[in-house]
Amino acid sequence: MQDLLLSIYLFLKAGHVIFMVFWLAGLFMLPRQCIYMLDHAPGSEGEAKWATRMGKLRSIILTPSMITVWVLGLSLAYAGGHFTSGWFHAKLTLVLVMTGYHGWLVGQTKKMARGERPLTEARLRMIGEVPGLLLVLIVALVYLKPF
Ligand code: HEM
Repeated sequence: MQDLLLSIYLFLKAGHVIFMVFWLAGLFMLPRQCIYMLDHAPGSEGEAKWATRMGKLRSIILTPSMITVWVLGLSLAYAGGHFTSGWFHAKLTLVLVMTGYHGWLVGQTKKMARGERPLTEARLRMIGEVPGLLLVLIVALVYLKPF
């Protein structure tokens, strides 16, 4: 099995990076969709429209991309023997934070679709920066492999 994965290592890596971009794109878009929904009153037609758009973003892009990044990433780690590497442990910790952020944000959007307003525009703009910061640290780790 490891030999098979090694023979397609570069395909796995290409797919991993492609779906990582889709995942990050979704994580950048979702907080902004929340901000647009704040312009609409709970129970209004405008709120319902944004709830539908968020639902599609979650089910068509965000969640499938996250799952694909994990499956291809773990396949790369197994094939390349990276499970014992310090950089990989640090990367995995940051990716678990990003996955937790994904789950938490999805939970907030479901609350908003029910008419709740758990986050202000200022807080949404602030938390919208989290994926970008994680991206910089994760990509630096995977290319520099500092430890
Ligand atoms: C979800 C869990 C993840 C796992 C288990 C994982 C694991 C890995 C492994 C083992 C490699 C191959 C490293 C090498 O061959 O040198 C890799 C490559 C890469 N990963 Fe991940 N990764 C994950 C998520 C992410 C995320 C969230 C990002 C970006 C935000 C990311 C960005 C990259 C990049 C850019 C590469 C290519 C590096 C190169 O070209 O050599 N990965 N990943």
